[in-house]
Amino acid sequence: MQRHFITYKSLTMNEKNKIDNHNQTSSNRFKDKVAVVTGGASGIGRAIVEEFCKEGGKVVFTDINSIGQTIQENDAELGYNTMFIQGDMAKKSFCVDCVKKAVSSFGAINYLVNNAFSFVAAGLDADDEQWMRSFKVGPLAYATMVQEALPYMKKAGGGAVVNISSISAHIAQKDRWTYNASKGAVNQLTKCQALDLAPYNIRVNSVDPGWIWTNETKKAAELDGGGPEKWDPIWGRFHMLRRLGRAVEVARPTLFLLSDDASFITGTNLLVDGGYLAMGPEGLGEKTINAGSE
Ligand SMILES: NC(=O)c1ccc[n+]([C@@H]2O[C@H](COP(=O)([O-])OP(=O)(O)OC[C@H]3O[C@@H](n4cnc5c(N)ncnc54)[C@H](O)[C@@H]3O)[C@@H](O)[C@H]2O)c1
Repeated sequence: MQRHFITYKSLTMNEKNKIDNHNQTSSNRFKDKVAVVTGGASGIGRAIVEEFCKEGGKVVFTDINSIGQTIQENDAELGYNTMFIQGDMAKKSFCVDCVKKAVSSFGAINYLVNNAFSFVAAGLDADDEQWMRSFKVGPLAYATMVQEALPYMKKAGGGAVVNISSISAHIAQKDRWTYNASKGAVNQLTKCQALDLAPYNIRVNSVDPGWIWTNETKKAAELDGGGPEKWDPIWGRFHMLRRLGRAVEVARPTLFLLSDDASFITGTNLLVDGGYLAMGPEGLGEKTINAGSE
């Protein structure tokens, strides 16, 4: 019997709407709460900003890309209360400044989402500069932001942090020492932060996405020729759900972890990977007797 895999393209309009519909608001869970989201001008960070605002919250978002200014203006037109701060998370002084500006503009910090990351992926030939960039934008900035935000989160009576990590924290991928090692460090950092912040009623978790359609994956698709239609079924094969995820599908679990719905969850990694990590090589559906492919 031929097995038919579901790709994004093959979903019904209703199913696609369920994933893509950015306008559906489920509640007001974050009414008047303040979140800081790093790398919030595109992709997963952007989706987190929008979803948080739809649930009544205010967001300070950072980005290295000045496009954030235009995005903030669009946010205002949509009724989203956001403030953009441009800069490089690799600079400690920028992290310090962000937290100060967030508090002086919005009066508090309740939540932090560390999301901006360096996509420098180098392996055997990785040089010091690539290592430093990877770790400075990644785990080091994730740590600094928590250190700087902590006094204000304590003052607010508690809160939650989500560190955006990756399936790459868990597995080997070719020529990606810098990226995978810094994501691995993020997951270990998450556990230590969770332990040390628990006394202040602050939970810390990571979200570990599989392949998600954002600028990064689009760039890779274009390099190889084609767009999502071509690459969804090919890269999608690594995931049980046989497609790539959408940014909003990472944003919603992130909001869950920030929210009181996750009040007894801390120090853990939530896989948002369409079954990528749970699937062994047999799940690829190659033609072997035991693979269950036919
Ligand atoms: N897209 C995926 O398949 C995927 C998979 C697993 C994990 N992730 C993780 O998700 C997070 C977001 O990635 P994305 O796919 O949305 O990428 P993206 O490129 O769409 O968004 C990242 C944003 O961060 C900004 N940024 C990058 N470096 C910065 C810096 N030094 N200072 C400030 N801003 C900076 C970028 O300008 C960009 O707007 C990253 O932590 C990434 O590692 C992505």
